[in-house]
Amino acid sequence: MSTRSSKGTKFVDCDVLIVGGGMAGCGAAYEARHWGRKLKIVIVEKAHIDRSGAVAMGLSAINCYMGMRWNENTPEDFVRYVRNDLMGIAREDLVYDIARHVDSTVHLFEEWGLPIIYDKQTGHYKREGRWQILIHGESYKPIVAEAAKKSASEVYNRIMVTHLLRDSTRKNRIAGAAGFDVRNGTFYVFRARTVIVSAGGATHVYRPRAVGEGAGRTWYAPWSTGSAYALVIQAGAKMTQMENRLVVTRFKDGYGPVGAWFLALKAIATNVYGEEYERKYVEEQRKLYGNYVDAKPFPTCLRNDAMLREIRDGRGPVLIHTERVLDTREKEELGWEDFLDMTMSQSIAWASLNIDPKTTPSELQTSEPYVMGSHATCSGAWASGPSDISPPGYHWGYNRMTTVEGLFGAGDTVGGSAHKFSSGSFTEGRLAAKAAVAFIEDHPDERPEVDDSYIRSLKEEVFKPLETFEVRRNQIVAGTVSPLYIYARQGVVRLEKIMDEYCAGWGQMYTTNEYQLTRGLELLLMLKVDLQNLAAEDLHQLQRAWELHHRVWTAEAVVRHTLYRKETRWPGYYYRADYPKLDEVNWHVFVNSRYDPDTQTWTMSSEPVHQLVP
Ligand code: ADX
Repeated sequence: MSTRSSKGTKFVDCDVLIVGGGMAGCGAAYEARHWGRKLKIVIVEKAHIDRSGAVAMGLSAINCYMGMRWNENTPEDFVRYVRNDLMGIAREDLVYDIARHVDSTVHLFEEWGLPIIYDKQTGHYKREGRWQILIHGESYKPIVAEAAKKSASEVYNRIMVTHLLRDSTRKNRIAGAAGFDVRNGTFYVFRARTVIVSAGGATHVYRPRAVGEGAGRTWYAPWSTGSAYALVIQAGAKMTQMENRLVVTRFKDGYGPVGAWFLALKAIATNVYGEEYERKYVEEQRKLYGNYVDAKPFPTCLRNDAMLREIRDGRGPVLIHTERVLDTREKEELGWEDFLDMTMSQSIAWASLNIDPKTTPSELQTSEPYVMGSHATCSGAWASGPSDISPPGYHWGYNRMTTVEGLFGAGDTVGGSAHKFSSGSFTEGRLAAKAAVAFIEDHPDERPEVDDSYIRSLKEEVFKPLETFEVRRNQIVAGTVSPLYIYARQGVVRLEKIMDEYCAGWGQMYTTNEYQLTRGLELLLMLKVDLQNLAAEDLHQLQRAWELHHRVWTAEAVVRHTLYRKETRWPGYYYRADYPKLDEVNWHVFVNSRYDPDTQTWTMSSEPVHQLVP
């Protein structure tokens, strides 16, 4: 092994290992400490927990709060909302479980110092919409991270986890995780009795709208690289809803969110001729997608669909009329703070493009697809629900445990349960950790077993891109062009092109068919072969290399799921042109997959959707 990669190996033994210190990971650490006072709880985070994950930049709202103490909503109301928004498909047990606990999470945030805005008239939290409350949230993440740091026994920042470890004697039992320090190259092996993966969803699986030097500007976090999915898939966990990738309507170029504008400020969107279009296609949509068009609020994917129809017909871009709603000082402040708290780039885009939102409308645009489990989408692992409400098939012992023993998920990792957002993700971390502690108590004598030879070969694999660079760099043809290796940047561009062109990216107006998906899968598998020749000239590029691996595994799952579901369930997210209708008879089901790490084969299946709330 080269000198660059032989930095030594550190072993860390613990009871609860939390992979990813975003909102869900912080919730997991907090709750694990509550139930497991004496346990060794370790967080491992590839960035720094103070500013990591999707909430790193801050938020202007908390999008999941029931308000039960003021009788504003019930968990049942929330389940109905989520079910309709996702066109009938939700793990209602998981959604309900978050809803019944999420308020307590928000109250903790307030106690820890997060400024939540109050409505002076009602004395309640000020609502942005039915489920959303307004905060001064620039420092949301550091506030929450402080609680997690106090709870954890140890926090390892700047360690990228590349693999989960399976137990050497019990194949379907998790034993820990491995990765490397992105600053000094030390190889880390965490041996753990339980692992909670909370490593975030995925951007840059699809070609982004902003390319070249703007490529870092995406709506969802560019550093969320699908680790949540790739790690658990390769450990053999069953996945669900990977085809339900999210497309969001955003302010053009800055990717500024629309929630505060539509819900709190009551802005309207029109086509370029000033016509409101959102409900214009309801009857056409009803013929294709059924009575989900009557849901209130109008499902997110159908809103996208209406917008895409306008654009396809040449009446775009769609405009959001900020200039009609900023008529008071208070509203103007709310509008600006919305972006300054969480998407500064939008304020900068306004300034640099000469757009004063008080006088000029802004263009809206649908984003590239993201793979996530926490917004208006629910990709992720097929997880056990809580014992008191989950029906057979949805429950196998421990809440939020995947189909791999001792391996739990939270936040974007867990599928079937949309609209968690920041508060729900933290809450799900709490639920997973409580169950993980129970798992440890029920298995007092089980210790992870990991072979030394396995660790040695894994270490070689992890650092191989450095080695590849070192050995083959003299054969560079020109600049970064080499016949013998590819760089992570080249690989990610190739991945984005494949996904955009074959699996319904924006370049294809989110449309695909069986031929395209089949070919796309072939191209992805070729890319996977070439990833054996990834080269990294330093540790930063090594991190990029492993992020690419994770994105490609995520992409593969997305393509396989999209191929399997023979209908168009979420128009506006993607269209199966060969099956343009929503098919309630055959496809009101979850699409699930499992990759078997021993045989290296995938199995697809479907699972019933149980309606629990009338
Ligand atoms: S986010 O970046 O803040 O998460 P966004 O602003 O789009 O995204 O969404 C904030 C919240 O408002 C989410 O709960 C979303 O589902 C909801 N939302 C956004 N637009 C609408 C709308 N037109 N109707 C109903 N709910 C909406």
